[in-house]
Amino acid sequence: MEEKKYLTFALGKGRLARQTLELFERIGITCEEIKDKDTRKLIFVNEALRMRFFLAKGPDVPTYVEYGAADIGIVGEDTILEENRKIYEVLDLGFGKCRMCVCGPKKAGELLRHHELIRVASKYPRIAKNYFYNKKHQTVEIIKLNGSIELAPIVGLSEVIVDIVETGSTLRENGLEVLEEVCPLSARMVVNQVSMKMEHARITSLITELRKELNKE
Ligand code: PRP
Repeated sequence: MEEKKYLTFALGKGRLARQTLELFERIGITCEEIKDKDTRKLIFVNEALRMRFFLAKGPDVPTYVEYGAADIGIVGEDTILEENRKIYEVLDLGFGKCRMCVCGPKKAGELLRHHELIRVASKYPRIAKNYFYNKKHQTVEIIKLNGSIELAPIVGLSEVIVDIVETGSTLRENGLEVLEEVCPLSARMVVNQVSMKMEHARITSLITELRKELNKE
């Protein structure tokens, strides 16, 4: 008999991957070799379950899934919205909760209220553009940055930022605050559109198991 195809998972590196693996363990999906912190391996296999796992940078997860290099991905909703890939979003995993917000010094609130032509720095130019142009109907200049976004209003690169707020401590420690909320965020499971058809039974039963486990919380 032909061997069952591997179901391949792309996990966003870091805390998200750790929380995902913990959740998977609770429904009997284990991967011992991925836990070895010293390993330089890139792909990890559970032969018995015919599953493979790899870690990738968050923004690359939807790309792997769209092209079918991974059947399933686990990634933050922020990345899904920003990458805008042709993938199915099938499950809210409930962890990794945070908010996408417009932030800045308190005085920038006035500029937002009066729809001034301001500069907005963000790691998420698509989300920022969609929010200001389609929701607020405010023309702004968007500046793409790759990290430490909070610096932008402090050093005068932009009036406000669009960024993730989790505990709010980065903002507080830098004299900034949430001025408007764009949307709430959490970790999501995404699925390749072809895999959803070809591996329908395995994937839907996985979603059902995960949903049952998450409902216990
Ligand atoms: C994220 C985000 C904020 C911070 C928010 O940055 O961009 O800077 O976390 O968390 P808090 O509300 O709990 O302070 P991350 O640490 O991912 O790095 P980055 O600045 O390089 O994007």
